[in-house]
Amino acid sequence: PSLLILNGPNLNLLGLRQPEVYGSVTLSDIEEVCQARASALGFDMTFFQSNHEGLLVDAIHDARGTHDGIALNAGAFTHTSIALMDAITSVELPCVEVHLSNIHAREEFRHRSYIAPVALGQICGFGAQSYLLAIDALASHLGQL
Ligand code: DQA
Repeated sequence: PSLLILNGPNLNLLGLRQPEVYGSVTLSDIEEVCQARASALGFDMTFFQSNHEGLLVDAIHDARGTHDGIALNAGAFTHTSIALMDAITSVELPCVEVHLSNIHAREEFRHRSYIAPVALGQICGFGAQSYLLAIDALASHLGQL
């Protein structure tokens, strides 16, 4: 089985970007720990980041038939993108929403998620650990944990 870990806008700047909010780990550090966790649970893993909404939609479409579940940190598109919501609905793959920060403890505009209603669940507030919890949640859902 295979997981897609998908990252949206500005997450390429992790480590440099607002370290007081997002910590000092980089996206490639996160990729490394995700790879280790996915392998330990018997999954192949694809890790992808884009700043472009349409490329994220394409990546979700391409996951159909190639991956068994998606962990999605859509960044700011979480709060705006009906297109990403529709893409998740369309491919009928289990999706776990991920955020490094606790979006509910931040500005009001981050409280609404278009991903949450179409996700198995949402994991936020645990920094890089949020991704590992999402992998565990997908593994459990897919019967691998
Ligand atoms: C984020 C939270 C979003 O509100 C923000 O726009 C991001 C990162 C997080 O991982 O905490 O880009 O998704």
